[in-house]
Amino acid sequence: MSSHAQQPHRLTVRSLQAMKQAGEKIACLTAYDASFAHVLDDAGVDVVLVGDSLGMVVQGNETTLPVSVDDMLYHSRAVSRGLDRALLMVDMPYLSYTSPQQALENAGRFMQQADAQMVKLEGGAEQADIVSRLALNGIPVCAHLGLQPQRVHKLGGYRVQGRETDAAEAMLDQARQLEQAGADMMLLECVPQSLAERITAALEIPVIGIGAGAGCDGQILVLYDILGISKGRIPKFSRNFIDDSGTIEAAVRTYVDAVKTGRFPGKEHVFS
Ligand code: KIV
Repeated sequence: MSSHAQQPHRLTVRSLQAMKQAGEKIACLTAYDASFAHVLDDAGVDVVLVGDSLGMVVQGNETTLPVSVDDMLYHSRAVSRGLDRALLMVDMPYLSYTSPQQALENAGRFMQQADAQMVKLEGGAEQADIVSRLALNGIPVCAHLGLQPQRVHKLGGYRVQGRETDAAEAMLDQARQLEQAGADMMLLECVPQSLAERITAALEIPVIGIGAGAGCDGQILVLYDILGISKGRIPKFSRNFIDDSGTIEAAVRTYVDAVKTGRFPGKEHVFS
């Protein structure tokens, strides 16, 4: 076997692109350790994100801001050991990508030391230079628009983004610029359904939604929300899948099936 051979069933950016073109919904979930990663992989989750949400759901912080590159590396290495098929995406934590050079060094660590296949970073067109520097160095990027939890203090809370006409047009424009800069995927968080549909139709790269409606090319949720173990109230856009499923494995399979068949998200999970 050539030293360039891929693991036979590992999904890649090309697989995700092909899924968009074929109209197959992309099912994504977060994970933070090898055991859950294995369950997700087995249940057919396409993309596993080591989210900086680990700052809240694993570390117990109020926000994602305290999460470090070393924290992300530790959890990403663990998750990578649990995956055979799913694509591994890793969040760039707060202040780890303030310049193209810093972003390249930190993203490079995720690729070299944790087998990441894609990194995700928050922000709009102001990140285009960073996206293109990573792309030029062979690092796939998922851009993250809409609600950006790393900017929670600047935004004044966790709020739906892009409701006003100007803000919606600006987000569509930023999405185009990020794609142009070399982004391979786009994540939209807490965005009105109609805007998410427009962005999904305008971009060639896959668009994954969380609180962005069923019109996106795929969906992502925080694992602990669907298992009903996150602290506090479950967000409006999420759903507890374990109450009706009984086991963790069944809950994850039900989630994957609901995303693939378009049964999740429903009208009750959407913003207008
Ligand atoms: O950190 C995270 O888990 C995320 C998801 C909410 C998309 O970015």
